[in-house]
Amino acid sequence: MMDWTDRHCRVLHRLISKETLLYSEMVTTGALIHGDQARHLDFDELEHPLVLQLGGSEPEDLAQCAKLAQDWGYDEVNLNCGCPSERVQRGAFGACLMAEPALVADAVKAMRDVVDIEVSVKHRIGIDEHESYEFVRDFVGLVSEAGCRVFVVHARIAILKGLSPKENREIPPLRYEVVERLKRDFPECYFVLNGGIQTQQQVIDLLPKFDGLMLGRAAYHQPWLLSEWDALCRSQGPSFDLRSGLDLEMESRKLVEQKYVHYMHQQKLSHGTPWSHMSRHMLGLYHAVPGARLWRQVWSDASLKNLEPMAVMELAHEAMDRAHV
Ligand SMILES: Cc1cc2nc3c(=O)[nH]c(=O)nc-3n(C[C@H](O)[C@H](O)[C@H](O)COP(=O)(O)O)c2cc1C
Repeated sequence: MMDWTDRHCRVLHRLISKETLLYSEMVTTGALIHGDQARHLDFDELEHPLVLQLGGSEPEDLAQCAKLAQDWGYDEVNLNCGCPSERVQRGAFGACLMAEPALVADAVKAMRDVVDIEVSVKHRIGIDEHESYEFVRDFVGLVSEAGCRVFVVHARIAILKGLSPKENREIPPLRYEVVERLKRDFPECYFVLNGGIQTQQQVIDLLPKFDGLMLGRAAYHQPWLLSEWDALCRSQGPSFDLRSGLDLEMESRKLVEQKYVHYMHQQKLSHGTPWSHMSRHMLGLYHAVPGARLWRQVWSDASLKNLEPMAVMELAHEAMDRAHV
């Protein structure tokens, strides 16, 4: 997610879940081919498994960038056919590519020809007046013939003219049944459901029906949601000593916070990155815990920017503890 799932955010999420597949922000082919590749592609080894999402429409450019993704060590490359923003439409990629399935198929084929890693596609269930099941079925049909096996489906249509990106994440109704039908019609493909999943109960209920779930906003605003996913997805234990019971669960969150504070400290030493650029991703860590608002206020306080992150953490917990007395 643009501006959200940068490398620091992904490190935080990886500290909470070992198995969850993490996605980069969308990076355009233009930015990669003509821009600062290291800035867009560098990541921390601990982020694996990790997907690079590309925005673009020229098969040759996408192939070149897919190769870069593989060479840089990404585990998968994903083509964005779901973003409805005007900027992206001006570049003729994102959701408007759903109207050009043959071009997407060519792009997928060109990418697959040069890499061994998975090439997946993220898309909507339709665009504008193309709301019929046949439209998305034909899109998936052609793109899967080109060799794409994994489809991440945001289960609402995108309205390309008239709705902002934010409205396009809220107004068109969610239709999970369309993704279920795709899964029935293309048994050789994998379908990852996206859109409107906000609670652990939804994760538990929906996971058996699909090949995976993608959570966007809820995972960002309440990262602790990720803490149970390793166990849910692979029937294995969680990524670290995740304790049950209220006090012990609080200890687990604090352990993640401590590790992230250590990471922020290291980033400051090695790259000069101020902790305030990284702490923003953590603000939802204690979502719904008493005192979380006071804790968050400390971590958001720009006047503390010259303190070491460890000292800020102490202040944040003192503030949180005051809410308990
Ligand atoms: C700030 C923000 C940035 C986003 N950037 C991207 C992006 O770069 N690529 C993408 O495929 N989707 C992007 N999305 C859409 C999400 O991936 C997701 O499809 C959408 O929010 C619906 O899922 P959710 O209800 O779980 O949030 C973005 C969403 C938000 C809120």
